[in-house]
Amino acid sequence: MYRTFIAFTVILAVPPALAESLAPPQDARQLVNMPDLPRSLMRADMQDHLAALNEIIGDLAENKFAAAAETAEKRMGQSSMGKHTYLARGQGPGRFMPDTMRQMGWNMHDAASEFARVAKSGDQAKALAALQQLTTSCVACHMSFRTR
Ligand code: HEC
Repeated sequence: MYRTFIAFTVILAVPPALAESLAPPQDARQLVNMPDLPRSLMRADMQDHLAALNEIIGDLAENKFAAAAETAEKRMGQSSMGKHTYLARGQGPGRFMPDTMRQMGWNMHDAASEFARVAKSGDQAKALAALQQLTTSCVACHMSFRTR
């Protein structure tokens, strides 16, 4: 009983400034509405992009440049574009993106292909710099758009 009393006293005594800092952070991203199919295709792509990045970092650490290049090109590069054509039948995620978002998607594919090109040279510092260009394209879109 005494403990409960203490607990209440502490809760009631939370100063207004602290209470404000407990509010959820604001979300300034633009909401992009997509039907279920393109949204789930995009989500599956995103999960694979993250897994691919993880593999690439591991490959770079072991100087496996050719493997890193192949993973980037096949799973995120220009060669990965349009892979949903059959399943999506015109309902691919790109169709529902605002122009700036679609452009950011293209930038990501370009950055992945550029990374693949640089990685093949076997220069680790240059490959890492190119990899960061790729992750920068992920960050740019994530800071600007959301789908739910
Ligand atoms: C064209 C915009 C765009 C680009 C480029 C982009 N993403 Fe995303 N990604 C999104 C959006 C939008 C979501 C959904 C976020 C939301 O609605 O809350 C998302 C979600 C994700 C998720 C969460 C998936 C889940 O489990 O729900 C991961 C992981 C992710 N992205 C990884 C990446 C990585 C890694 C890259 C870069 C290689 C990348 N994304 C590039 C737009 C993008």
